[in-house]
Amino acid sequence: MESSTQLRPGHHQASPDYALESESYTHGHHESVLRSHRWRTVENSAQYLVEHLREGMSLLDVGCGPGTLTVDLARIVAPGRVVGVDASEQVLDDARRHAASQQVAVTFEQANVYELPFADDTFDVVHVHQLLQHLSDPIAAIKELARITKPGGIVAARESDYAAMTWFPQYAGLTEWNLLYHEVTAAYGFEADAGRQLLAWFNEAGFDVDKLTPSSSTWCYATAEARQWWGGLWAERCVSSNFAKQAKESGMADDVALEALAHEWYQWADDPHGWFSVLHGEIIARVG
Ligand SMILES: C[S@@+](CC[C@H](N)C(=O)[O-])C[C@H]1O[C@@H](n2cnc3c(N)ncnc32)[C@H](O)[C@@H]1O
Repeated sequence: MESSTQLRPGHHQASPDYALESESYTHGHHESVLRSHRWRTVENSAQYLVEHLREGMSLLDVGCGPGTLTVDLARIVAPGRVVGVDASEQVLDDARRHAASQQVAVTFEQANVYELPFADDTFDVVHVHQLLQHLSDPIAAIKELARITKPGGIVAARESDYAAMTWFPQYAGLTEWNLLYHEVTAAYGFEADAGRQLLAWFNEAGFDVDKLTPSSSTWCYATAEARQWWGGLWAERCVSSNFAKQAKESGMADDVALEALAHEWYQWADDPHGWFSVLHGEIIARVG
């Protein structure tokens, strides 16, 4: 479990602009990234929200990515109006194809979370999943989510927490990967440990704490099939995704180091004792 990875310290000056095509979205939309997003369903990623959903509610999913969660949510609130938005037009094509294949009515459009193209008080439910951690100003984004939510409606968010991820056996390369992920996201102005900060962020954005219901839940990868899937996609992300590009651009890792991390991920995936858990913070915020 020794690793020869050499990571170099460095710093990247993040742009303060709110770019529409996301603020250098850390993962990008490489196939290894989309593969993990397409796996997401209400059952594995939005259970905390289900009890708040009713038939006929209008729902907006912001940073919807390839839209599997959006489509699943639309099934529950049908025949309510459901819209998915994302900064990336490219990923929305994927989402539109998925909705069409499932014969579920969802509209997908390009939009920036900081300037959503909807009037005040438009939706009953505004949902984000794994978006706030990729933003330089999550509090400004939460205020915008609240603006377009009807009085009495809810904003719902679920974000992972990288420092709280836990795994076995203790491959040194996975520890290095986790540290590198923190360094790269911090260099670009993003918060890898977003899950534990949701309560604070929503309160800072103007929600009284008595309007906030926090919770947490996990993903667990510990079967041979799940290990191959999770370990394989992270191995690919280490060498091929935007994360790899940003790690190199910021001077924190080179190709050799990233290849070594990928190798460790493959080793973990092949380990019959391999276990990996991802902790997520969740919050239901009642508007008005
Ligand atoms: C980690 S993915 C999550 C996708 C989806 N919610 C899911 O869980 O499967 C984050 C998504 O947020 C989008 N995004 C990043 N910055 C954004 C912004 N400023 N406005 C809207 N979407 C943004 C990215 O393009 C990406 O598709």
